[in-house]
Amino acid sequence: MSEEILFEITKNNLETGMRGYPVGFCPTSFVDPQKGLFYRGEPISELYTQSPEQVIFLLLNGHEPSDIELAEFKKNLGERSQLSQAVTKHIQAMPRAGHPMKLFCSSLLLLGMLEGRGDYKEDCMSVIAKLPMLVATVINYHAGWGETPKPDTDLGYMENFAHMLNVPSVSKEQLAEVMRLFNVLHYDHGGGNLSTFVGKAVASGLEDMYGSLCSAMCGLAGPRHGKANQDCLVFVKEVLDSVGENASVADVEKLIRDRLSNKQLIFGFGHAVLRAEDARATIFYDYSKEHFSDHPLVKIALLLREAGPKVLKENPKISNPYPNVDAMSGTLLTAAGFGFPEYYTVLFGLSRCVGIATQIVYERTQARDGKGTPIVRPKYIYRPM
Ligand code: MLT
Repeated sequence: MSEEILFEITKNNLETGMRGYPVGFCPTSFVDPQKGLFYRGEPISELYTQSPEQVIFLLLNGHEPSDIELAEFKKNLGERSQLSQAVTKHIQAMPRAGHPMKLFCSSLLLLGMLEGRGDYKEDCMSVIAKLPMLVATVINYHAGWGETPKPDTDLGYMENFAHMLNVPSVSKEQLAEVMRLFNVLHYDHGGGNLSTFVGKAVASGLEDMYGSLCSAMCGLAGPRHGKANQDCLVFVKEVLDSVGENASVADVEKLIRDRLSNKQLIFGFGHAVLRAEDARATIFYDYSKEHFSDHPLVKIALLLREAGPKVLKENPKISNPYPNVDAMSGTLLTAAGFGFPEYYTVLFGLSRCVGIATQIVYERTQARDGKGTPIVRPKYIYRPM
């Protein structure tokens, strides 16, 4: 690449969360402010109907699998999918106190201690294969839903996850399909989202895959990042309680104005990069309208989709007044029978570890002609306070 100037740094770029400041290359995905998410150059709107195995293969290899490649890939995932009894036993010996993301982060470290191989590529494949059982074990244990069944190698990646999740009274078929959609839409979101950036930064010190993913997931756990999906569902429920399921757009518009004038947050809108409705949110809205249009929370989330941008656009300081992925994901999970918001960020993590692990493999083994990127060490300017 020529030595073109990509970005000039001024004082105004400091203490802004490095917004818009390029720091590297990301081969797996990118986020266009208007068109949204692309995996390996293909828009998410053209990929979301595919199986998790197809999409994960694409992210890992940069091309869609042939039938033979896909069959081999599924076999490879299936062979690696089961956790050892030691991992399960130690997860179940940990406290259940606090948010389940703490248990998930700890279980990633535990998996690395007991099953890590110290090879980024090998560990990438293994961790992707084991994530469904790891997350099912974490949730089942945290929720008190009993022992996690073994994976069934005849089932697909997310069908297996739904099979292992002991969620009470739900259609497993419906749950598997919604979990598939949720999983495929959350794998990757460019190179600079917080969890991905953190995971790659930690791996740049040559920490192994599992420690790097654990740190990434601690990044995801915060309410400004992954936990926003949980908080958003709580918000949609509050709106429903306040306006009722037969509310009009005008009712919801009034509620938003009242909340804003009381300095209360409006959840599910805005994004650091996007400047239009998040393509992932659009897919969730369409799916929810098709399958769960009578669900009270779906009705409210659709009204928020209409009223939110209308009100938020009036404030010139808001650069993106449109819904993001979190605006609808929790509502859809609830409508499909998984009304357990404290696990939504763990589900986000189950998916996002795929993209982060793939990007770590790139940075550690392929970047700079195979030398790998150097240890992350940005400059801070000394300023006595
Ligand atoms: C994500 O999927 O990681 C979120 O939309 C946040 C981001 O892209 O920065």
